[in-house]
Amino acid sequence: MNGLLRPDLLAGRAALVTGGGSGIGLGIARALAAHGARVALLGRRADRLVEAAACIERETGRTAIATPADVREPEAVAAAVRTCLERFGRLDVLVNAAAGNFLAPAAAISPNGFRAVMDIDARGTWHASRAVFDAWMRDHGGVILNVSATLHHGATPMQAHASAAKAAVDSLTRSLALEWGPFGVRVVGLAPGPVEDTEGLARLVPEPIRERFRRVIPMRRFGRIDEIATLATFLVSDAAALVTGTTLVADGGARLAGRTLGLES
Ligand code: HXC
Repeated sequence: MNGLLRPDLLAGRAALVTGGGSGIGLGIARALAAHGARVALLGRRADRLVEAAACIERETGRTAIATPADVREPEAVAAAVRTCLERFGRLDVLVNAAAGNFLAPAAAISPNGFRAVMDIDARGTWHASRAVFDAWMRDHGGVILNVSATLHHGATPMQAHASAAKAAVDSLTRSLALEWGPFGVRVVGLAPGPVEDTEGLARLVPEPIRERFRRVIPMRRFGRIDEIATLATFLVSDAAALVTGTTLVADGGARLAGRTLGLES
């Protein structure tokens, strides 16, 4: 890790990260472990989760476990939460990082395509949040971090489905912060812009337009997974104890550069 935060910032905590097998979810899980937390990785591909958990254990010396489940299945998510509680005896942090996306004009998105993305992003966030609240946080408090995006702050071509889904996620961040604050639960959001070495960048910003897009970003670069993970670690830590119901944008100013990802031409 980059050493910007105290290495014992999350000592004694336990965290569940959906989408923890790859990309930003995995980066966040690694960072939480590097700052003292035990982590559980939730995702669809058990083999990938097991490999990622072993890698985190080797790297950080913290316990990391695989809890395979599809966030679209509330029963499977609730079972994964039970496994975490059996293994860790607590669950202080939930990170909702599972997401699905593809590039398609609105006129070409099928009912099932729209549903798949809404189900993974919006309903997945809901299922995991409810499961963790019901099983632990209602009685013990905790922090829920929802990974969002900036696609829906204006409008982004070929992203009608993902924009609708992330708007729903941001809305849940506010609603759950309002209702669960009295239980000692903070609910915060983190909205990365384009991030290097992610499936999102590979899927959404095709190579031919990548350089052009990079040049119009105020910071003249894409984000890095470790930068997003550091912000996530800060947001779930006590350093952000007063922050709830809001989503932090971390995009190098990309959202200011124009209305699109560079997809309009
Ligand atoms: C049109 C498409 C499509 C495409 C899939 N579909 N790809 N439609 N254009 N390119 C349609 C399928 O035809 C199908 O509808 C429906 O979506 C479901 O597809 P399946 O493959 O059967 O579903 P599933 O296996 O569940 O896959 C879900 C998925 C997939 C979302 C479609 O892409 C996925 O699993 N992605 C996970 C990883 C991911 O996307 N990560 C990137 C997140 S990026 P029909 O009608 O044919 O049955 C992100 C960041 C955004 O969130 C911000 C970045 C700046």
